[in-house]
Amino acid sequence: SKPLSIAVAGLGTVGTGVLKLLATNADLVAARAGRRIIVGAVSARSRNRDRGVPLDAVRWYDDPVALAQDPGTDVVVELIGGSEGPARALVEAALAAGKPVVTANKALLAIHGAAIAELAEARGIPLAFEAAVAGGIPAIKGLREGLAANRIQRVAGILNGTCNYILTVMREQGREFAEVLAEAQALGYAEADPSFDIDGVDAAHKLAILAALAFGRPVDFAAVHVEGIRAVTALDIALAGELGYRIKLLGIASSTEAGISARVHPCMVPVAAPIARVDGVFNAVVAEGDFVGRVVLEGRGAGAGPTASAVVADLIDLARGRHTPVWGAASGALDSAPAVPMDRH
Ligand code: HSE
Repeated sequence: SKPLSIAVAGLGTVGTGVLKLLATNADLVAARAGRRIIVGAVSARSRNRDRGVPLDAVRWYDDPVALAQDPGTDVVVELIGGSEGPARALVEAALAAGKPVVTANKALLAIHGAAIAELAEARGIPLAFEAAVAGGIPAIKGLREGLAANRIQRVAGILNGTCNYILTVMREQGREFAEVLAEAQALGYAEADPSFDIDGVDAAHKLAILAALAFGRPVDFAAVHVEGIRAVTALDIALAGELGYRIKLLGIASSTEAGISARVHPCMVPVAAPIARVDGVFNAVVAEGDFVGRVVLEGRGAGAGPTASAVVADLIDLARGRHTPVWGAASGALDSAPAVPMDRH
């Protein structure tokens, strides 16, 4: 059958990763998607950089909004990032043009997710974002599909690979935050603005998305409590260790009678807990459902390969015609008012 032609906006680490995955696993992806997935158009800041993948036959655009309107495109893939600016304009233009969107943009969805979902759902246009949370971990499919039969009481996790790497190296080598920061940034997993990582904002973006999915309604991002890891010292980590704990930056959201609680801050985790052993750039997502109990998913939360894996999984779904409403089957069944986290510590 007819190939699925995609337009990719943003050819940085993740965009290049998607192109490489589609080239390397082309036959496998075609078999699972029921047709070939081809890159018909791209936009990127630089045309000349060698990305290690042939781009001669594609249509190039300088303006992402024009890319979104490319007549030969079936699905628009947004890998620019950022909650405003070109990424937001591109997603809105794609939905307005009736084109399904795949995005890895957690900031955009955490802050404008409700409005964007409305735009998509009013016209029945798919918007998929597995790559926005915890990179390669199928957290969104896991919650929305795998745990669809459960009332989710709590969702939590290690949601920022850069912070988890810094805390791991501080513990293993007894070094201070400021010394390890530059090494973490050199790994290439940090956000364009690295304060988003270390001040907990990136983890909070992902938590807001997970909470919206888990509890079936959008979360007011401005009301999420956010605290990062700048103030954690090597001594804190050593003392916690003597007491039998690891210090981890966790995002935790729970649904209680008083409302939804959503917060990100450094936590003492008992060494025996499964997430205490999730080290380096790995992430973990923990969900608790009323029938399933606790489920823990672990994997690489950042980087080209893991994030591309999630983007292409969404493309395979769309090629197959599989499409879930943005906040999952639960949305609409629950209170439609945005949830305001109840606690601000
Ligand atoms: N800066 C993020 C991290 C990238 O370090 O986890 C993945 O969203």
